[in-house]
Amino acid sequence: MKIFIDSARLDEIEQAFGYGIIDGVTTNPSLLKKAVDKLEESGEKITIEEYLKKILKIAKGTPVSLEVTELKQDKMIDQGKKLYKMFNPVANNVNIKIPVNPSFPDEEGRDFEGIQVVKTLSKAGIPVNCTLIFTPEQALLAAKAGAKYVSPFAGRIDDYIRKNNNISFKKTDYYPAEGFEENGKILDDNGIVSGIDLVAQIVDIFHIYNLKAEVIAASIRNSIQARESALAGAHIATLPYGVIMQLLVHYKTKEGMKNFTDDIVPEYEKLTRDK
Ligand code: E4P
Repeated sequence: MKIFIDSARLDEIEQAFGYGIIDGVTTNPSLLKKAVDKLEESGEKITIEEYLKKILKIAKGTPVSLEVTELKQDKMIDQGKKLYKMFNPVANNVNIKIPVNPSFPDEEGRDFEGIQVVKTLSKAGIPVNCTLIFTPEQALLAAKAGAKYVSPFAGRIDDYIRKNNNISFKKTDYYPAEGFEENGKILDDNGIVSGIDLVAQIVDIFHIYNLKAEVIAASIRNSIQARESALAGAHIATLPYGVIMQLLVHYKTKEGMKNFTDDIVPEYEKLTRDK
């Protein structure tokens, strides 16, 4: 499974790429806002254009998602094309993130605008990451429309199921992949019992129909969910910096290091130390 960093913060992206295990970057308007807030706090003066170009250069050779902010079909297409034209020449690694359904709650009649944008941009040769996916059928339509990536939001599904059932939780709390049982019944949203179940169902459908789109397990809250994304067959998991940092931590590894270090035979160590 590939690992992307889910961040628009240059410091986090730079650090994570320095570890040599990052395969791409995903951003969204909220992540960009966080990054810009942080920049303003630091007093650093840089335009958003220059800032994004720096990210693209750090990620050279790996894909970076930039999301549209327009809501209507024609404007999304126009913005997607402009973003691609403006930023792809920097390092040839931009894909455009399009919400699968850009309409607001209670708004009717625009549900297919995102899919039409995916189709138009993909046909024009612009790689698309179709985002805000909460059902396997949304993912299926995105793949049929030509999306290169589909991004199911695992953590947000878990949050939604917990909220709808008055279960209190912290953002990083683990939610069981097989679902949460209450009064003898597994809680669900529209037949989906967890975020990982959503990822797994999409992976299964893409296998059955040999669809080329890659599944990005997104909205990942902790390292167990990253592991379960891999077990579910996600092609990619996009992880916040904090989750990436958790991936290598185990108390027994650290304790083992301390014990091995305490036991070092001086003559063995000397063999290479002075060479
Ligand atoms: C995916 O591409 C999104 O940027 C992201 O994973 C959303 O995560 P969140 O639910 O933690 O905001």
